[in-house]
This record gives sequence, structure tokens and C-alpha cells, in this order.
Amino acid sequence: APKDPPGSAGSGFVVVANRLPVDLEHLPDGTKRWKRSPGGLVTALEPVLRSNNGAWVGWAGVPDVDVDPIIEDGLELYPVPLSAAEVADYYEGFSNGTLWPLYHDVIVRPEYHRDWWSAYVEVNRRFAEYTAKVAAEGATVWVQDYQLQLVPKMLRMLRPDLTIGFFLHIPFPPVELFMQLPWRTEIVEGLLGADLIGFHLPGGAQNFLFLARRLAGQPTSRGTVGVRSKLGVVQVGFRTVRVGAFPISIASAGLDELSRRRSVRERAAQIRSELGNPKHILLGVDRLDYTKGIDIRLAALQELLHDGRLDPSETVMVQLATPSRERVESYIQMRGDIERQVGRINGEFSRVGYPFVHYLHRPIPREELVAFFVAADVMLVTPLRDGMNLVAKEYVAARSGVNGALVLSEFTGAAAELRQAYLCNPHDLDSVENAIMSAIEDDPEAKRRRMRSLRRQVLAHDVDRWARAFLDSLAQDRVAGSALLPD
Ligand code: ADP
Ligand code: G6P
Repeated sequence: APKDPPGSAGSGFVVVANRLPVDLEHLPDGTKRWKRSPGGLVTALEPVLRSNNGAWVGWAGVPDVDVDPIIEDGLELYPVPLSAAEVADYYEGFSNGTLWPLYHDVIVRPEYHRDWWSAYVEVNRRFAEYTAKVAAEGATVWVQDYQLQLVPKMLRMLRPDLTIGFFLHIPFPPVELFMQLPWRTEIVEGLLGADLIGFHLPGGAQNFLFLARRLAGQPTSRGTVGVRSKLGVVQVGFRTVRVGAFPISIASAGLDELSRRRSVRERAAQIRSELGNPKHILLGVDRLDYTKGIDIRLAALQELLHDGRLDPSETVMVQLATPSRERVESYIQMRGDIERQVGRINGEFSRVGYPFVHYLHRPIPREELVAFFVAADVMLVTPLRDGMNLVAKEYVAARSGVNGALVLSEFTGAAAELRQAYLCNPHDLDSVENAIMSAIEDDPEAKRRRMRSLRRQVLAHDVDRWARAFLDSLAQDRVAGSALLPD
């Protein structure tokens, strides 16, 4: 069990996520250090937690270590230990071999194993128990993402005094796909332990409302759910659970500011010259994940080069790919496929000293990443499915020069807001190729118009606004008590 929280009064605001915002790293010389965890959840929530002075309950990213709580700058981190077997069955197994592919439209086939499910239940219970110890009387607890969908119900049984919110950072799938899951009813009931359940898009919220009726047998509202408005309602006994759409975002003002710094501008110019001063720099930035469609953008570029629509003497592609889930079979395979594709394109279209694709398989420090955003003329974001995709918003926020162009898959949550991007269907290679060519060749004034509109969206709707919208709705639940079902 976790050590008693400081002052043992507990924290009034607690975020619970599979990962802490930092990973423990064991260096070869035996020392340890903390580094930033990968992924969009951490990018979005870290600034929110800092400004709310809260506690964060999560895993330190390595198996079999027991780390003391860390308290710094008003941020309290409570590490939850996982054994090597739990990492294999709960994290790599049920979370990333079952739920991740199932919720992302079965791009790879989800596997259903009873052992993985048992580990998922057990680890969810541990997270609930730790949180029950850390949270103060009457605290607000905000549970995050698909790895912890049973925590709301488990935590409510332990601590009925808490106000519990849940947010899903990935897509909530169509009903037909969700129904494959052998433990579908348990998941829906687990989520219904929350007072407020948030999704990125109204469609996800509506899918969930349907399943709450069908699988949990609870009465629900039937009207459409709005964005940050018109919440749905599920009546669970005498409790009212609300369901809403809250599209997540980034700390856009900070990124805008960073992109204007002289050091970043100079580094961006240096990157361009290191790449051989090409006319067009294309950029991809992703976790190395099969949902991201890295293979699709490479296939599109290969065909454009082959057909002579792209000139390799004036164009360069940079693909930055953070290693991710490296022991999961589908990720091992995909890495091999992508690296072969990069090799093939370079073999065919590079000159000595001037590779066409620059591929870096490692995390890039924040400032350096922003310099790449500033340097890139065209950003390629082509997922087959993505809950939101923060990279698309980061690129827009970093384009303080109001130039550059964003190619964006329609199958991202971001596409619902970033309507002025060069939208494409990643299942249709012609559509991707045409979007890339328009993003390169459109006249500069048309591009500026689009970018200006994208920037208005991203700068106005930042992550603070997302957190406020969710937490304000959650606080209203507390005062509203049991509500009547609308319509
Ligand atoms: P996901 O959460 O699925 O990884 P998002 O696009 O929502 O996808 O968020 C990814 C986050 O990780 C962004 O903040 C992005 O800047 C960061 N990121 C992605 N690739 C890299 C990389 N190669 N180096 C550093 N940061 C990266
Ligand atoms: C996505 C998920 C997060 C996850 C992140 C990184 O953003 O929504 O829950 O933390 O990817 O993946 P990882 O498996 O390394 O935590």
C-alpha cells in the first residue's frame, strides 16, 4: 500500500492514469533518473495538474520497482508498482493487445485471453485501492483512459464520498465492434461508477449511451450529445451519470511562444540547411504505432516520386518516431515493415549525402521538436484512426509565421475541429497523394488563409479550456444531485 500522503489529510484533486508523467530510467552505470513519459495523455494533462496543485497516481514505466512518492513544486506523484507478469498481461496484453486495437477499428486483430482479463481486473483494483488512500474526504478524482475503465466503479465502492470523473483519450468504438469483447458488460458497468464520463467526440458518447441501455440495462437520455454541451444522462439506481464530448487540446499559447523564440528559429534554419536547403520539407511526428498510418504516407510519397509528381532533388521527408510498446508483437512487425519501406524509398530516390527520408527512431527533446515544426513546410498526419491527435494541433500552434500546411486524416478526432486542413482519406491512396500535392503546390495566399483559420481554432481551444469544461461539468454534478432524464 502507498505511504500515507503528506499531512495525511490527502489530496483534494487526484488524477489517476496508467502512467505517471515521468518514466523511471535505469542507466547502464546503475543510477536512475526520471524522463518524460511518451504520448498525448501526458502532454495534455501535465500542465493541467501543475496549475491545479494535484496528485497523480500512476505506474513509473518499469516492472518490479517500488518507488517512494515524489513531491515537488506542488505536484505529488504516487507510483503504483506492477510486476513483470502484470506488465505482460495487463499492459502489453489486455490494454494494448485487446483494447487498443479493438477501440481503433480492429486495424490489427484484437486478442481475447482470460489471463489478460484477470490481470486487468487485478491491476485496476490496485489502482482503485491506492487512489482511495491518496484522496482526501470529498475529493475530486479524475480517472484517465482505456487501461483503467474498471477503476470508477471499484473506487466508488471503496469511497462513496468522492466525485469521480472519467475521460477516454482514444476513440470509443462503434457498437458492433465493442460487442466482440467477452467482458463488454463489466467494462460498461465499470465506467458507470463515474459521475461524468467524457469522450473526445459526440459519436463516442452516443455509442456509449446505447451500450449502457443494451448491456447494463439502464435508462438513458436519447437526444444527441453536443460538444461541451447537451450532456447525455444514464440513470443508475438513484445515481445520475452524465456523458459528454470534450475534445482535448494542447497548451497552445506556450507552444506559440516557444516557436517565436530566437533560439528555436535559428535551430529551424539550421535544420533546413542540414537537410541540404530543400524547397519542401515534409514532416511526420508520431509514436511508432500502427494506428498512425506512417506506412500510408510513405506509400503515397513513394508513388508520387515514382510518377514524377514529386521531385526528389527539391523535397525531403523527415519522420520522427518515438519507440512505443516494443514488446508487443504487432509493434515489432510494423517497425520492421516501416524500416523496410524507408530503406526501399531511399534506395530508389536518394543521392549520396541526400537521403529522401530521414527517419529517427527516438524521442526528440521538446525544443528540438518545435524547431522541426517551425522548419516543416508540410506536416503529414495520416492515421487510420486516432482519438484526437495532438501532433496536428502542435504543428498549427507552432506556425506563428501563419504559413505551412497541414495534411490531416479524416479519421482523427482533430479533423472534426481542423476543417481547414488538407483533409484526406487514408484508405484512399489517391486522396492522400492529392492532399500532399495541394499542400505543397497551393498558392501561398490560400495556404495562409487556411492556416489563419486553423490557428484561431487551436489558440482559442487550448487544454485549459478542455480541463475547465470537463471539471466544471463534474462539479455541477455534485450540486445537481439526482436529475430528471431530459426528453
Ligand atoms: P498519442 O497520444 O497516440 O501518442 P498524440 O498525437 O495525441 O498521439 O500525442 C503524441 C505526443 O507525443 C505529442 O505531444 C507529440 O509531440 C509527442 N511526440 C510524438 N512523437 C514524438 C517524438 N518522436 N519525439 C518527441 N515527442 C513526440
Ligand atoms: C496514448 C494513450 C495513453 C498512453 C500513450 C502512450 O496517448 O491514450 O494512455 O499513455 O498513448 O502509450 P504508452 O503505452 O507508452 O503509455
